[in-house]
Amino acid sequence: MADALRVGIAGLGTVGASLVRIIQTRANELAVTCGRPIEIAAVTARDRTRDRGIDISAVTWFDSAEELAANAEIDVFVELMGGAEGAAADSVRAALRRGLHVVTANKALLAASGVELARIAEENGALLNFEAAVAGGIPVIKALRESLTGNTISRVYGIMNGTCNYILTRMEKEGLSFADCLKEAQRLGYAEADPAFDIEGNDTAHKLAILTTLAFGTQIAPDEIYLEGITNISIDDIHAAADLGYRIKLLGVAQRTETGIEQRVHPTMVPRDSVIAQVDGVTNAVAIESDILGELLMVGPGAGGNATASSVLGDIADIAKSRPGAQQVPVLGTPAASLAPYKRAQMQSHEGGYFIRLTVADRTGVFASIAARMAENAISLESIVQRSKPDSSVMSKTIILVTHATMENSVRKAVDAIKAESYLVGEPQVIRIERPKDM
Ligand SMILES: NC(=O)c1ccc[n+]([C@@H]2O[C@H](COP(=O)([O-])OP(=O)(O)OC[C@H]3O[C@@H](n4cnc5c(N)ncnc54)[C@H](OP(=O)(O)O)[C@@H]3O)[C@@H](O)[C@H]2O)c1
Repeated sequence: MADALRVGIAGLGTVGASLVRIIQTRANELAVTCGRPIEIAAVTARDRTRDRGIDISAVTWFDSAEELAANAEIDVFVELMGGAEGAAADSVRAALRRGLHVVTANKALLAASGVELARIAEENGALLNFEAAVAGGIPVIKALRESLTGNTISRVYGIMNGTCNYILTRMEKEGLSFADCLKEAQRLGYAEADPAFDIEGNDTAHKLAILTTLAFGTQIAPDEIYLEGITNISIDDIHAAADLGYRIKLLGVAQRTETGIEQRVHPTMVPRDSVIAQVDGVTNAVAIESDILGELLMVGPGAGGNATASSVLGDIADIAKSRPGAQQVPVLGTPAASLAPYKRAQMQSHEGGYFIRLTVADRTGVFASIAARMAENAISLESIVQRSKPDSSVMSKTIILVTHATMENSVRKAVDAIKAESYLVGEPQVIRIERPKDM
């Protein structure tokens, strides 16, 4: 049997500790599958004394990730610390510069510096694998980077944040408010103490930026993403969506358009009968639409120690099986030097269906005025529903409009015109509708 692949692991938290446990308990199977043993040669974390429920007594301990990355005794540097800068970025750069293969689960680092790191890896003959960085255990990176080569991809979209999907699912299933569901998610450990990064959509944006690059062969552009979180989704929206045959999901969508690439993260209404609408709780899903294959939908665990470690282990196994000197898969699917500049399609030009919920004073003429504002902006309506709703101070009613495919710009203008009218009570709610191909 060939020599062992010696792995150095930086970060022994949720993912790192799971990875150590799996490699240790499956040593024999891994050696057979990979054709060589996988050996944990060295580790590092911040606190050496912490009990992690794993046995690392026979493994060399390093006091810093940089020292571990510089160690000549390892063949692969596995970064599981997290963070776009600092120890994670410095150690990954250093490892790649000396031609050491790297595996990471760090979406923040890849979104911020992925192209630079890919270039360093390719210049130094190192592999940089990051399957766990997007949608945890779902092998979407490999699908885009390798399996779909030759396909022209038109759209990639998905549910990539378990916290948001858990909250939206609970709101719908139990009729609870956003705030109550967030508290419950925090109690169960699905949401961080500071949940802003998840619920404002930033986490999904990091993952989307990586998928966009792999799908469209362009530079990573995390700052060119239209971003809207789920904090202002109310139970009224969820109920209205259900009445109209939709469910609300936080989607990340990247789409090729005539004017460039559209990248957006926002609450989205998806048809209740679509497969993606059935993806509940902390589960993730990624859909890829391409010309040769058609539509591919992958659903699975998007986070958690074991699911994430499963992807990290797959990346390590790929390195164990790779042949020295063989042609390598480009880190981002296309060689870093050949990635096209990113050209952003403006959000104002986005075309799609819209759900608009207005609370208005219960007066005559309001309905006609709203219809007129829509017509002035050439918005064609698929449905218009009104419901009476007694309010504490005024008699108000809710009007829900669903548009046929229309331009974002037209919707914004129509909503601004309605906002200028005296009958509007509170802020209008606008939610984009996304349909899977052929729905
Ligand atoms: N958890 C998930 O479900 C999941 C899913 C997909 C991707 N990821 C990604 O996987 C990575 C790890 O996530 P995690 O959830 O395992 O994080 P975690 O539980 O917070 O663990 C982080 C680990 O890194 C160590 N660490 C932090 N800063 C360090 C430094 N400067 N030097 C050395 N060690 C340092 C910590 O040491 P101490 O233990 O001593 O504090 C800890 O062991 C992140 O990039 C994350 O985005 C996680």
